[in-house]
Amino acid sequence: MALKGFLEISIAFVIFFIFSFLLRKKTLTNWPFLGMLPGLIVETPRFYDWIVEILEATGLTFHFKGPWFTRSDLLFTVDPANINHILSSNFVNYPKGPDFRDIFEPLGDGIFNADFDLWKDLRKSAHALLSRQDFQGFTKSTTVGVVKNRLLPVLDHADKTDTVVDLQDVFQRFTFDTTLTLVTGYDPKSLSMDMPHVELAIAVEDAEEAIFHRHFRPRIFWKLQSWLGFGFEKKLRDAVAVGDRACANYISAKREEIRRGDRSEGEAMDLLTYYMNIDKNKYELLNPNDDKFLRDSMLTFILAGRDTTSAGLTWFFFLLSKNPKAVTKIRGEIEATFERSVNWFDQVDLNKLVYLYGAIYESLRLYPPVPFNHKSPAREDVLPSGHRVDANAKIVLAFYALARMKSVWGEDASEFKPERWISDSGVLRHEPSFKFASFNAGPRTCIGKQVALTHMAIVAVEILQNYDITAVDGQRVELVPSVILRMKHGFKVFVRKRCLP
Ligand code: HEM
Repeated sequence: MALKGFLEISIAFVIFFIFSFLLRKKTLTNWPFLGMLPGLIVETPRFYDWIVEILEATGLTFHFKGPWFTRSDLLFTVDPANINHILSSNFVNYPKGPDFRDIFEPLGDGIFNADFDLWKDLRKSAHALLSRQDFQGFTKSTTVGVVKNRLLPVLDHADKTDTVVDLQDVFQRFTFDTTLTLVTGYDPKSLSMDMPHVELAIAVEDAEEAIFHRHFRPRIFWKLQSWLGFGFEKKLRDAVAVGDRACANYISAKREEIRRGDRSEGEAMDLLTYYMNIDKNKYELLNPNDDKFLRDSMLTFILAGRDTTSAGLTWFFFLLSKNPKAVTKIRGEIEATFERSVNWFDQVDLNKLVYLYGAIYESLRLYPPVPFNHKSPAREDVLPSGHRVDANAKIVLAFYALARMKSVWGEDASEFKPERWISDSGVLRHEPSFKFASFNAGPRTCIGKQVALTHMAIVAVEILQNYDITAVDGQRVELVPSVILRMKHGFKVFVRKRCLP
């Protein structure tokens, strides 16, 4: 009996090891009925690094076969010619489409999901808001205010009390406060000494993870999971309820504020106030009286502006913690440009920080906060790489992997080199967006790119001028499988105030 048990366990072990070996190969086994799904499930915890290996091994484009009859094949590509074709030169054939809208349905009809005339109205109106002088002033004063009054005191406190800080958490709270203020006009003050639990912030992170899993599981699986209400889909449903409640509160508070005539002439313009007063004649498809339209716009901008910028900042400081020479160079540049304690950051002065911007671009290249984009052709097409794609086929543009391809960025592709962004004459070098796609490319290029770069530069200047940041030794750095590139265990650092004359 004991021998039988021993044999059974041994056979189970052998089968387990054979399967693990087969599933961990760089190219995936295509199983009968299940396709390559088992391999994908095994690799999900290290999804992003696995895609790098697969695309390197298969020459920039890889066809993933989903389970039979589930319409879940995927074409992963990092071929710059394909990226250019899909995002720019053949843009009209690559709308977001019904599959994308289904996956991102929690964002409703916001700009991320919209196509055609609705997208045009949303894009034009968002562009108009971001170009307004009063909104730009509000953006900068909000950022500088939260940096000076809350970010720096939190770091001072960490220095005085000698406590380890999770810099990722600090940046997420920082961008949550700045983004919510710009979107609603109200500051949630999540960044403070006691680091309060913020339901909406957690809900957004849960939603981002669930949406990731929707991309790579057969639709029928996650639809069933959503219907039965368990796992990531349950988390998503709860997160959407939190988002709905928060938006409804902000909308009614703002309507009440407007009804009471609390707003004074020349007061800062937030996104919600702007859309409540949008000109219907100019933007026929936008309805300022429709709470659903306001809710979709608010949630989209919270997702677009908040976690992207905080992820960008976290990876930037992570890379600097490994590259002290880059810190010295950036500090030299800052000292030559700014006083020790400035209260305002002029864009002309910020633009003089060429090496700093090189380092920011380099960290956004290596760790793009939006690590992939998903596209479907409206009509069948042949990509420049020669791959034929049917109408509604799913194509994944893998931006995280793109940065690591030697055939695109050279032998040193995986290294952090701000110098690659600086030309011989000492100015910032332009890289085409189909090669550096961290802000997307073509007509749907990120509309908040300049805002994000300025925010990152201001935070970098303030922190690098005033503190030494040292990463805690031996911490594990893993990526969360999510639509935003976050660190699974946070980024733990020691903060020391710099003693300067
Ligand atoms: C480092 C920070 C940021 C990165 C890396 C980033 C990246 C991106 C990417 C890759 C897209 C394309 C998404 C898609 O088509 O599915 C996008 C779109 C967008 N981004 Fe950003 N973003 C950042 C910050 C911001 C900020 C601060 C704002 C708002 C002020 C913003 C607003 C938007 C909007 C509205 C879109 C949709 C554009 C459209 O579909 O026409 N982003 N962004």
